[in-house]
Amino acid sequence: MSKSSSTYAHEKDGLPAPAPSRQAPRRGLSRGLAFLLAAVCAGIALYTLGPPCLSKHFESFGEVARKEELCPQEDPLVPSTNGELWKGLSDKYSTNGFLLEAVEWLGGAVRVPTESYDQMLPVGQDPRWEVFTPFHDYLLSAFPNVHATLKLTKVNTYGLVYVWEGSDASLKPLLLTAHQDVVPVNPESLNEWTHPPFSGYYDGERVWGRGSSDDKSGLIGLMTTVETLIKNDFKPTRTVFLAFGFDEEASGLHGATAIGKYLLETYGENAFSLLVDEGGDYSIEYGQAYATVGTAEKGYFDVRVEVTSPGGHSSVPPAHTSIGILAQLLVHVEAHPYKAELKRGTPMYQKTQCLAAYAGELPSKVRKAIERAGSSDKALRAAEKALFADPRFKALVGTTSAVDLIAGGVKTNALPESAWAVVNHRIATDSSVGAVQEHDADLLHGLARHFNLSYTAFGEQISEKGAPAYGSLTLSDAWGAALEPAPITPSAGEDAGAFRLLAGTIKTVYRVHRNVTDDETVIVSPGIMSGNTDTRHYWPLTKNIFRYSHSWSGDRSWLSRGVHTVNEAIYADQYLEMIRFFTTLILNADESRAI
Ligand SMILES: *[C@@H]1O[C@H](CO)[C@@H](O)[C@H](O)[C@H]1NC(C)=O
Ligand SMILES: *[C@@H]1O[C@H](CO)[C@@H](O)[C@H](O)[C@H]1NC(C)=O
Repeated sequence: MSKSSSTYAHEKDGLPAPAPSRQAPRRGLSRGLAFLLAAVCAGIALYTLGPPCLSKHFESFGEVARKEELCPQEDPLVPSTNGELWKGLSDKYSTNGFLLEAVEWLGGAVRVPTESYDQMLPVGQDPRWEVFTPFHDYLLSAFPNVHATLKLTKVNTYGLVYVWEGSDASLKPLLLTAHQDVVPVNPESLNEWTHPPFSGYYDGERVWGRGSSDDKSGLIGLMTTVETLIKNDFKPTRTVFLAFGFDEEASGLHGATAIGKYLLETYGENAFSLLVDEGGDYSIEYGQAYATVGTAEKGYFDVRVEVTSPGGHSSVPPAHTSIGILAQLLVHVEAHPYKAELKRGTPMYQKTQCLAAYAGELPSKVRKAIERAGSSDKALRAAEKALFADPRFKALVGTTSAVDLIAGGVKTNALPESAWAVVNHRIATDSSVGAVQEHDADLLHGLARHFNLSYTAFGEQISEKGAPAYGSLTLSDAWGAALEPAPITPSAGEDAGAFRLLAGTIKTVYRVHRNVTDDETVIVSPGIMSGNTDTRHYWPLTKNIFRYSHSWSGDRSWLSRGVHTVNEAIYADQYLEMIRFFTTLILNADESRAI
């Protein structure tokens, strides 16, 4: 708190001049010479039909990309038309009075439990949804200006869509989203909580309780921002939408699904300029601080593998029962993992470029390989090999498989007529559900033949129709919940106006709230989310979907946040910074014509 007030005082007379651009001298061959060499080599290769000349030599030269090319950084973007208002609010946010008000708003929201559960019945049939009525009442009483000024539509009873009409209908609206629900508190863990999970208790430093971080800080942060902007006479030029689902923690099947459909039917495809939902945040990687903006999400696919074979008495068993065959199939699946491949242009590749450009503790071999990977396949493979030594990194890049469920058999003296398992896949951002189907179908084809099984994969008969078989193997979508990888949000080139607006906003908030004077202290990088958020239901609404929580943890361990476990809490200062972020984003978007 004291930190932020002096911070802003420091910035009061406008922001310091942008840091001088750092034109690192380019090493290696000049680009023109490299292309010339490549062209000559290609010509010779064609002519002689032999291997490209000098290929080894050329590779080792590589083309070394500068850090401005690897991971471009935006200058801080500060509201100008709305500059006076922004400065006034920045001062206000640094006061103790505002802090107490903001903390009370968040604490009040935590005190209304809104737990969501897996496999709930539709709204109207499952009484557990009714917890959202008191939550809506709370919002109504806490944010009177929002409710007097914005138009509220309730979608599927509990989904909230607020519209704050701008004066210029030609500007595509901004869509800011969060979720009302929280993961359930395990009743057995109650005595482990320092402060009761629905207390919303403020201890002078942190607000405690389920949802204080995930994601009532996002929702109440947005409501607080809009309430405050209205009270300070801001009238938007660009329309602002707030959309709050109510079962994000249970895949958004009833909440965001209905909201996405409603927004699409009412406003059409690509009707929004950009969308910001919860997501990536602050982390230290190889000694460098990053603000990672999720520009993609992996896909999701649960494959059911089912084997049938003749039943009978277990005293005269065949060599292989359904269970034995299934076991061999699953061993085969684990023995043949998907080949992960780091591809240029993917968000994980961009992330590695940001590591190479700025992370001081990245091993220099890896850095050098990434710097050349843009123009050299050999360098790209070398970088990939080194980075894949970290299994978590590899898992984020490639399609993964995990055998997560299994069942079969009824009795010890009866041969099992069937056995099944479910393999959970998280699909690489540059792959698809179709590619995974094809891969799995091929992978098990040999064993299907070996065991003489009639083989059907994803509705297609693969073994010869009508041929006599010992049993069957069927692959199918386990619950019809397959999810393609999300469309990748542009973060470079001419389509990246929205990304740049967001990145410039992030830089400004770090300056103002954290006293960050060097704009390379926190690097903004594209990246991917390892899980999925409500945004999966919003794809058609805009090409610019960002999963980003402006949540600075500093050197505090994320474990201390208690997200999805006991002792969830948020530092008041961290929460104030989110409000600053939303305020700066709305004002920047309001006056930008680049989105
Ligand atoms: C803010 O940064 C300036 C420049 O680095 C420094 O002199 C000042 O003490 C900092 N203030 C706080 C509160 O950290
Ligand atoms: C497959 O199994 C069926 C039924 O037991 C049998 O008639 C057929 O000959 C077997 N085919 C092969 C190639 O083993």
